[in-house]
Amino acid sequence: MNNNTITVTSPLLPNLDDFHQMLQEIWDSKWITNNGQFHKQLEQALAEYLKVPYISLFTNGTLPLLTALQALRITGEVITTPYSFVATTHSIWWNGCKPVFVDIEESTCGIDPNKIEAAITPKTTAIMPVHCYGKPVNMDAIQAIADKYGLKVIYDAAHAFGVEVDGKSVLARGDMSTLSFHATKVYNTLEGGALIVKDEATKKRIDYLKNFGFAGETEVVAPGINSKVDEVRAAYGLLNLKQVDAAIEKRHQVAIRYREALRDVPGIRFFDDMPGVRHNYSYFPIFINAEEYGKTRDQLYFEMKEKNVLGRRYFFPLISTFSTYRGLPSAAPENLPVATKIANEVICLPMHHELSEEDINRVLELIVK
Ligand SMILES: Cc1ncc(COP(=O)(O)O)c(C=O)c1O
Repeated sequence: MNNNTITVTSPLLPNLDDFHQMLQEIWDSKWITNNGQFHKQLEQALAEYLKVPYISLFTNGTLPLLTALQALRITGEVITTPYSFVATTHSIWWNGCKPVFVDIEESTCGIDPNKIEAAITPKTTAIMPVHCYGKPVNMDAIQAIADKYGLKVIYDAAHAFGVEVDGKSVLARGDMSTLSFHATKVYNTLEGGALIVKDEATKKRIDYLKNFGFAGETEVVAPGINSKVDEVRAAYGLLNLKQVDAAIEKRHQVAIRYREALRDVPGIRFFDDMPGVRHNYSYFPIFINAEEYGKTRDQLYFEMKEKNVLGRRYFFPLISTFSTYRGLPSAAPENLPVATKIANEVICLPMHHELSEEDINRVLELIVK
C-alpha cells in the first residue's frame, strides 16, 4: 500500500503508554485469561455505555451469532438477509439450519418486514435481521411478525455499536443481539465481539456456552465452545471505550462533509440521519445510478482505486450468490430484486476518525466532477 493511500477504515488504537501500563498489571498478576479483572471491568463498562442489562464478551463477532442460535435451540429454517457479511448466514448453516433469504428495503438496506411473512413455513423458528451500516431496521414490524408466529429474533448488530432509537439501545430489542469488535469496526478490541441478552439466567448460560459448557470445576452442562476473551484484549477494550465517543463525533463530521458535497450530484444517493436515532457513522455508503451519474459503480470504484482511494463494495456480491447458498430457492435473484440492485450500486467511502480535510477533499474530487 502506497503512503498516500486513503483506506476505507483505520483502527481506533489506544495510547501505547496507557496500554503498556495495563500490560504491566497483567504481567504482575499473571492472570491472563478466564474472566480476569479487566474482562469483568469491560463487561460492566460496556453494559453501562451501551445501556443494556447483560452482555457477554466473545473473541469475535461470529461466535456470538453461533452461540445465540445454540442457546435459543433454533432448528429448521431461519429467515435472514442476503445483504450482509457472510458470517450472518454462515452462523445459521453451522447450526444445521436452513437460511431463507428475504429481500431488503432500499431505505435501510435491512430486511424488508413486508416480505417476511411470505417466507414463513411450518419449519421457520427464527428471524436474523442485520442493522446494516448501523442503520436500525424496522424492529417494531419485525417483532410483531415474530410474536404472531412465535419466532425468535436474533439481531446481528455487528455494525450497531452505540446506536440508539429515542434514547434506547437497539441492542435491547429482540431475543438477543450480537456485536463485532473487529479492527474495522467503530469500536474494536483487536478482534472481539459480544452477545447481549435480557436476563441474568440467560447470561449465565451464555457464559457457560462460551467456556466449553463448564458450570464448575468438574461439571459440564452443555456442549459449549471456547470464545473467552483474554486480559490483553479486555485492557485494550477498556482504553478504547474512553475514546470511542470522540471517534464517533469525528466520523459524524466526515459524514456532514460528504453529504454537503454529494447532495446535488445527479445519480448519487446516500443516507441522511434518521429522526430520533443516535447513529455511529460506521460506514458511509453511496449508491450509484449509472444512467444518471454517467458511469457505473465499478467504473468509479476502480478509478478511485487507481488513485489510491480505497472504497469497499459492501455488500457485493450478495451472500445468496456464494456457492454454498446459491442453490437455495430463496437465493434466486428474482426473489431478491432490491438487494441485487443495491449490491450493484454501492460503494462505501473511506470513513474513520483520522480522515483529514485534505483526505476528504481527495475522495470527493474523484466523485464530484
Ligand atoms: C454484519 C456482520 N456480521 C458478523 C460479522 C462478523 O464479525 P467478526 O469479524 O468479528 O467475526 C461482521 C464483520 O466482521 C459483520 O459485518
